[in-house]
Amino acid sequence: MIRLALTKGRIEAEAVKLLESAGYDCSDMDEEKRGRRLIFHTDGGELEIVLAKAGDVLTYVSHGVCDAGIVGSDTIAEQGSDACELLDLGFGRCRFALAGKAGEWKGIGHRRLVIASKYPNVTRRFFARRGADVEVVKIEGSVELAPLLGLADAIVDIVETGSTLRANGLEVYEDIADVSARLIFNMASIKLKKSETDIFVRRMRAAVGV
Ligand code: PRP
Repeated sequence: MIRLALTKGRIEAEAVKLLESAGYDCSDMDEEKRGRRLIFHTDGGELEIVLAKAGDVLTYVSHGVCDAGIVGSDTIAEQGSDACELLDLGFGRCRFALAGKAGEWKGIGHRRLVIASKYPNVTRRFFARRGADVEVVKIEGSVELAPLLGLADAIVDIVETGSTLRANGLEVYEDIADVSARLIFNMASIKLKKSETDIFVRRMRAAVGV
């Protein structure tokens, strides 16, 4: 059995759809059955699926208590990970972008900018590549508020449809990097559960179409 940590929320439904098309019966996760449970089993007993927050998926896989994980590359970019990234799953597509109030971006310039983000490490790396020293303020969610309230000159956030930015009078100043859901594996699990890992990855690859 492979124990798979699955990021709950945004990418969960797409991940379950992909698992189903890879031939794993996830009916244990059906709305009417699940209640507040966090651990599920595929009908054939091949997978134990653990629902966790994105950052915790990386922690469980890194500690080896979960063999594999499905998590956004945004979280991997922010937290770093010693897990092995085996597959781009092709869903959960969005991008990191620098954004702020429409028509107000004056470039990096000479003044020390304040940038708000849920992704302080990604933000620091982006500005370091530009040789710019910025003040990064960590925000937990609804980052779009920061420039509107006057806390920050701009934000670094994930943009999917762009509707949150538009609805709040903000715009993308610059695209930073593409993001998508990834299948990651604990290095030791790849070796210790080689045949199960091979079967799982082969079936997931076929479902993704790569
Ligand atoms: C993300 C992100 C943006 C929004 C982008 O937030 O931080 O706010 O989605 O999506 P869009 O381009 O399709 O509008 P999320 O919904 O995860 O909530 P949060 O900001 O409270 O974390």
